[in-house]
Amino acid sequence: MSTHKRSASGFDPTPSIERSAQQKIAVVRSVPASAGAVGIPVGTHGGVPRELGLDRATLTASGFDGKLGQTLVVPRQDGPSAVAVGIGDPAALDASKLRDAAAAFARAAGKHAHLATTLTDVASVPPAVAGQAVVEGVLLARYRYDALKQQATGTALARLSLVATPKRIDAVTAGAERGHVLAAVGELARDLANAPPGHLTAAGMADVAARVAADRGLGIEIFDAEALAELGCGGMLGVNAGSVEPPRMIKLSYRPTDARGKPSKSAGHLAMVGKGIMYDSGGINLKPRDGMHALMKMDMSGAAAVLASMSALAALGCKTAVTGYLMCTDNMPSGSAMKMGDVLTLRGGKTIEITNTDAEGRLVLADGLALATEERPDAVVNIGTLTGACLSALGDRMAGVFGNHQGFIDQVSAAGAHTDEPVWQLPLEKSYRKQLDSNVADMKNMGGDFAGAITAALFLAEFVGDVPWAHLDICGPMKVDADESWRSRGATGFGARLLLEVALHFKPPTS
Ligand code: BES
Ligand code: MN
Ligand code: ZN
Repeated sequence: MSTHKRSASGFDPTPSIERSAQQKIAVVRSVPASAGAVGIPVGTHGGVPRELGLDRATLTASGFDGKLGQTLVVPRQDGPSAVAVGIGDPAALDASKLRDAAAAFARAAGKHAHLATTLTDVASVPPAVAGQAVVEGVLLARYRYDALKQQATGTALARLSLVATPKRIDAVTAGAERGHVLAAVGELARDLANAPPGHLTAAGMADVAARVAADRGLGIEIFDAEALAELGCGGMLGVNAGSVEPPRMIKLSYRPTDARGKPSKSAGHLAMVGKGIMYDSGGINLKPRDGMHALMKMDMSGAAAVLASMSALAALGCKTAVTGYLMCTDNMPSGSAMKMGDVLTLRGGKTIEITNTDAEGRLVLADGLALATEERPDAVVNIGTLTGACLSALGDRMAGVFGNHQGFIDQVSAAGAHTDEPVWQLPLEKSYRKQLDSNVADMKNMGGDFAGAITAALFLAEFVGDVPWAHLDICGPMKVDADESWRSRGATGFGARLLLEVALHFKPPTS
């Protein structure tokens, strides 16, 4: 695919684009002899499929009882190994559980490049849904970030054969194609977040976005420091002031077209704004010396999620117009860095007293939200790794969601439930707003000691006017330390599939 290119430094920031395009997904009637392993679903009760060649008593004696995510590899002399894959209660199976089961299978059969499975042939899940969930689970679980290793870790997946009965084949095929696209979306977001900060700068992110836009039918405008100054984006410029790397705001636009490629009437207009801090040192309020520092390369996970989700809008025929803003810059300390006590003027004119240079995400998002809402979209969603407080409150499995419109927050929550990127709503508690009052400016950029996730959201709320708005704080789920279901260790790509789902099912919120 033409989006696969090396930067001037010789580093390819998006290896998964080419890898994903090379992975073959086939829907077949029977298990190909060339497969290394075949995954066979087994529930906690009900029959054991004959293909497994084992009865329930033997499985139980081997410690396998069919619980969701359990696996048991049964090596064979000739032909593919059989892998019993636990699906729990077969009647309670759904897309999320099937995705988990498929991911467990992909890991259990990790040494094989060609996998086959009959997981797509389960009676309780419609074939298109099953095809999609199984492909997502297998591909995302087999994702590895080994762009910088001399020796790749593990075996790359080359081929996945989904077994389906004749009457399910067409629907499984359609679902599998969708699953392939969705997995690629998650993988692209992971590549970008896993890339080291010296390898992927704000300018580098703009280069990636330009290639993705050209290849996936998106409009793009790139704003450098001078253009940002003209727009009055004082948040972007203030956060960038200490960096030798120039900032970039990247504006992407998707407009739906009809079958002949002509613009078609859109089902509303959705705006997305992503926090793109390429590296967050904290600035003059330098972060303490701990392991978290190396993770701050992932502080652009929000921008990565917006770019990755938008990369698939055309392929999936999204009917909603989508405009994305990636707010990209480092946050660095230096002689030219913004200082505590400095006052920035953000887009739209609000003045902000800087009381902590490490509360930088809200400053760049504020510029983006102000610009986005000036265009009067039907709704705006922003996403970013905003606060350690949100991680403390909700842990690393779910994001916090805040907003000013319950109907739109519900659309975002439903999307997260659908993609297994769960979000939990936290209150936009107005009585805490006074923590942001400043003696010298319109607002401070940091509140008091408590409710840090809420005061960050209250800050952002000032920049959206009356446009229906949701804010996703993905500080917790942006990464995992160890492989777990479809989440491979490192950046998770959290939010990318969720935002795509929001766009695909978008209904302009009514007041
Ligand atoms: N990028 C950080 C938040 C973060 C922390 C992301 C850990 C991922 C893992 C953000 O810019 C930040 O520094 N937030 C501060 C805000 C505070 C200064 C008000 C925080 O959470 O401590
Ligand atoms: Mn910070
Ligand atoms: Zn940050």
